[in-house]
Amino acid sequence: MANFSPSFLDEVLSRTDIVEIIARHVELKKSGSNMMGLCPFHHEKSPSFSVSADKQLYYCFGCGKGGGAFQFLMEHDGYPFPEAVEYLAEKAGMEVPKETQRQPGDEERQKKAYDMLTRVSDVFASALYGPSGGKALEYIKQRGMPEAIVRSYGLGYAPAGYGFIQQAIGNDNRTNAQLEAIGLLFKGDHGYGDRFRDRLMFTIRDRRGRVVGFGGRVLGEGEPKYLNSPETNWFHKSDLLYGFSEHRDTIRKEKQLLIVEGYMDVLALAAYGLKIGLAPLGTAIGERQIREIFRLCDSPIYSFDGDRAGRQAAWRALERMMPLLKAELSPKFLYLPDGEDPDSLLAKEGAEAFRKRMQEEAKPVLETWLMGLKLLAGQGAEGRARMAKKADSMLATMTDSYLAQAWRQEIEQTTGISLQQQRRHVSSTPSAQADNDTVKLNEIEDRFLAGLIQKPERFRDLPDIANDFFLDKGRVKSLYMRAFSIIAGAEDNNTDIARQLAQESPEDQTLISRWVNQATVQDIEYESLLLDMESNDIRWRLKRGPDLNESVLLQKRLRELQSQQRKLSELLNETGA
Ligand code: UTP
Ligand code: MN
Repeated sequence: MANFSPSFLDEVLSRTDIVEIIARHVELKKSGSNMMGLCPFHHEKSPSFSVSADKQLYYCFGCGKGGGAFQFLMEHDGYPFPEAVEYLAEKAGMEVPKETQRQPGDEERQKKAYDMLTRVSDVFASALYGPSGGKALEYIKQRGMPEAIVRSYGLGYAPAGYGFIQQAIGNDNRTNAQLEAIGLLFKGDHGYGDRFRDRLMFTIRDRRGRVVGFGGRVLGEGEPKYLNSPETNWFHKSDLLYGFSEHRDTIRKEKQLLIVEGYMDVLALAAYGLKIGLAPLGTAIGERQIREIFRLCDSPIYSFDGDRAGRQAAWRALERMMPLLKAELSPKFLYLPDGEDPDSLLAKEGAEAFRKRMQEEAKPVLETWLMGLKLLAGQGAEGRARMAKKADSMLATMTDSYLAQAWRQEIEQTTGISLQQQRRHVSSTPSAQADNDTVKLNEIEDRFLAGLIQKPERFRDLPDIANDFFLDKGRVKSLYMRAFSIIAGAEDNNTDIARQLAQESPEDQTLISRWVNQATVQDIEYESLLLDMESNDIRWRLKRGPDLNESVLLQKRLRELQSQQRKLSELLNETGA
C-alpha cells in the first residue's frame, strides 16, 4: 500500500459520497436509514445490498461483500488501492501528496498520454468515414458489424502510407516523442513512422475505460493479420482484457461471461446482444487475467477452437487456473466446432442457437481436467499411472484444500490408483488467508457488536459482562481495543468510529460494514442483548459445577435477568419496535 497518511485518507473519504460512487452502477432506493439495491457483486432478484450514507459503508447481506468507497472502487471497478485514493482525491479537488505519487511530477504527463491516446482513437474513427476510409468501411459492413457497434467500441481506420498520425496530432519534437511513447510512432533510420498503416483499428481500453492502445487488422491478406500496440507504460497486454470496461456491468448483471479469442468475436457477440465477451490481446490467457475474470463472474465460460491447438490452449488455461480455483467457482470450457469462432458461428446460427450452445455444451472444469488427463496419458496401465502422477502434481498447485480433496477422489476413481498423500499447500495469497480467519460469532454477539458500532457512545459505559466478552475473541478483541482508544481520544460522541476503524484496519472492513448496514439495534434490543450475554455466561458457569453458595447466587441472578428480559420484551411489544 502506498503511504498515504491517515489524515489524508480521512479527508478524501470525508469529501466523498459513497452513495454517488455506487449509484453509478446500482439503482439505490431509500430503505429505513440506509439505501438498498441489487448487489453488483452477485446475481440476485431482490435487493440485499445496503449502503449507509451516514457511515459511508456498503454491505451485501447476500454475498457478504462490504467496505467503504476505496474498497468499492477496488473490488468493483478494479482499481489498485493507490489509484482508488488518487481517483477520489482528484474528484474531491484535492492535491495528492507528493511523496505518494509513483513518480513525482508525473501526473501531468500521464494525463497528457491518456488524452493523446483518446485523440488518436477519435482520429482513427473519423478516418473511417473520411475520403480514404471507404475500403475499411466496406470491409466492416461486409463482416456484418452494425454501425452502433463501430461507434461505441471505437473502431477506426489507419490510412495507408506514412505521416497520418503526425498530420492529425502534431509534428514537433515533443509530440513525436510522446506519440512514440504511447506506441503510435516507431523511430527508424529515416525518422518517425506510423506504426499502423492501412489497417482496421480496434480501440483497446483499460479497466477504467481509458484508451491505452490499439489493435489493427489487415484489410484482406497480409502479415501480421493483427498488429497490436507495443508494450508501453499504459499498455500492458497481460493485464488487459478486450471488452472489459464496456461489458463489466452487463457481465455482473447477467452473471454470464464468455472468454473468446479475438476482437472480432467480442464485437460480434455484442452485435448479437451478448455483451458478455472478453478477449485477451493475442496472448495466451494469464494468471492476472484469470483472477480478474473470477472477480467479475464466478461461472465464466472459456471458449476454444475444437482443433488440436484449441485443446492445447484450453489445457494451458486450465493449468494456470488451478491455483485460483475454489469450491465457490464454477468455470466452464466450451469447445467450438473445428475451424469456427464465435463470430463465424453467430453469423451461421444466430444468437439463440449460440446461447443454447453455451448452456448445453460448456463442460465443467473438472470434466475438462479429467478428459485432458486421459488424452495426455494415453492407454493401458501405464497410461493410468501417468494420469495419476500428472494429476497428483497438478493437485499440489491447488489452494482450496477441500476442492483438491474432492478432485483427488475423482481421479482416484477414474484411474483406480490411490494418490500419495497430497502435499499441504501453503497459500501465500492474503485473500486465501483471510478466508480462514473469519470471526465466528453467534447471533447475540453479532447484534451486540452491530449495536456498538452503530451507536459508539455505548462503548463509553460497557458493563463488565461486555468487557469480558471481548477478552477471548482475538479479532474482535483488537477491534474493540482500537474502538475504545478512538472513543477515549475523541472530543465528542459523534466521532465516526466505524469509519476510522474500517480505515485503520482494512481487514475488518467487511465486518464493520456489515454491522453498520444491519437493521438498527435500538436501545431496547441492546439492553436485551446485554441480558442475554450475561445469562449465557451464568449458564456456562453453572455447568462447570460451582460450589453451593455460588450456585445459589448465580441462580438468583439468572432469575433476575429473566424477569428483566420479560419486562423488556413487554416494552418492545408496546412500542411495536
Ligand atoms: P485469429 O487469427 O483467430 O483472428 O486471431 P480472428 O479474431 O478470428 O479475426 P478475423 O475473424 O479473422 O478478423 C485471434 C486473435 O489473436 C490475436 C488477435 O487478438 C486476434 O483477435 N492475433 C492474431 C494477433 O495478435 N496477431 C495476429 O497476427 C493474429
Ligand atoms: Mn474470426
